[in-house]
Amino acid sequence: MDFELTQTQTLIRDTARKFAREVVAPLARKLDREEIFPVETFRKMGELGLLGVNVPAEFGGAEAGVVSYSLAVMEIAAACASTSVAMCVTNMVAELIVQFGTEAQKKQHVTKLTSGEAIAGAFALSEPHAGSDPGAGRTTAVKQGDRWVLNGTKQWITSGAYAGVIIVWARTSNEGNKGLSCFIVEAGTPGLIVGKHEDKMGLRGSNTVPLTFENCEVGEDHLLGKQGDGFKLAMVALDGGRVGIASQACGVGRAAIEASVKYAKERQAFGQPIGDFQALRFMLADMHTQQQTAELLSWRAASMKEKKQPFTREASMAKLFASEMSNRVCDKAVQIHGGYGYIDEFPVERYLRDARVQTIYEGTSEIQRIVIAREVIKAAG
Ligand code: CAA
Repeated sequence: MDFELTQTQTLIRDTARKFAREVVAPLARKLDREEIFPVETFRKMGELGLLGVNVPAEFGGAEAGVVSYSLAVMEIAAACASTSVAMCVTNMVAELIVQFGTEAQKKQHVTKLTSGEAIAGAFALSEPHAGSDPGAGRTTAVKQGDRWVLNGTKQWITSGAYAGVIIVWARTSNEGNKGLSCFIVEAGTPGLIVGKHEDKMGLRGSNTVPLTFENCEVGEDHLLGKQGDGFKLAMVALDGGRVGIASQACGVGRAAIEASVKYAKERQAFGQPIGDFQALRFMLADMHTQQQTAELLSWRAASMKEKKQPFTREASMAKLFASEMSNRVCDKAVQIHGGYGYIDEFPVERYLRDARVQTIYEGTSEIQRIVIAREVIKAAG
């Protein structure tokens, strides 16, 4: 067991940290207040390799592995969680096409994603009535000649209005989970209708829209993986995606702790900095310990994925613990800031709003517990 970062991991972390501090952080408050999606930031992230950290270099990726990816997400999320979620989904979409796409699909779509040309990737799995249970999706894809015709509505699609490449799950038969297939749909395809941007509690700089498909036609070469394998592709993508969201939660938690320590050293009460009071020190000790635990869980899951070991349970544990940690830590950060924590002069109110969805998206905490329990019972034989 070695807790030292490799040269590549250190380079990616430092590159992401510098970019996060110089470019991403100064924009974060404005993106949140004005609900702006940072298009220019994504072009620059493409140049730095942050949109395909674990993608082979031949498709424009950094080919730096999953631990590097986790480190990069933590840095971007510590500066702006909204930017980090679109980064996570773009990496997830690029990796899914690398893993299951044909050579032609990889050449056509992955380089566009990693370079920032596509701005972002989107993952269109959930539907208005089916979030935790994607096997109940009703969007259909019907084969007509050499074309697939898609009809239905997808809900909560991160970056949906900006993404150049969208992976869409649609039903190709009525066989429940086994009836789902996966399609690559490009922005601007006739019949793809982008709905109204959701006015969210947090992650307000992340674009979230419904996508409707009305006789939306794609060629048969847009089927990703085999017909009927869509559910499995979703599960594989989400295992990796959960490492991303765990890392995001670690980044937001770390930012909340850094803000709290700074405030606790500056703010005076009863003639001394509030950070000198044991009540606050105990809070900071618990926050830091929980955040560091979440980082270790995230890196273990990332490392197992990198070594191509089964990591479903580890990814769910990291996502469960890290997302619940970031909610607890951000709540405490607001408490430490007192009244100032509740206004937007300090960033901790944004951190708390941004953290809230982390226990919901890419599988709720309840879904993670289902996955973990199944794996624990399965391993017991
Ligand atoms: N890897 C590979 N295959 C897997 C798998 C995994 N992790 N998990 C399940 N499978 C396979 C199973 O082996 C099974 O295969 P067979 O039929 O060949 O035996 C098949 O998939 C069906 O599996 P289950 O019977 O376990 O399926 P289920 O219906 O009981 O559901 C579930 C399992 C874990 C609850 C799953 O539905 C789930 O993860 N739900 C949550 C969905 C989710 O996370 N949605 C988030 C939306 S996306 C998002 O938020 C993105 C964003 O923009 C931020």
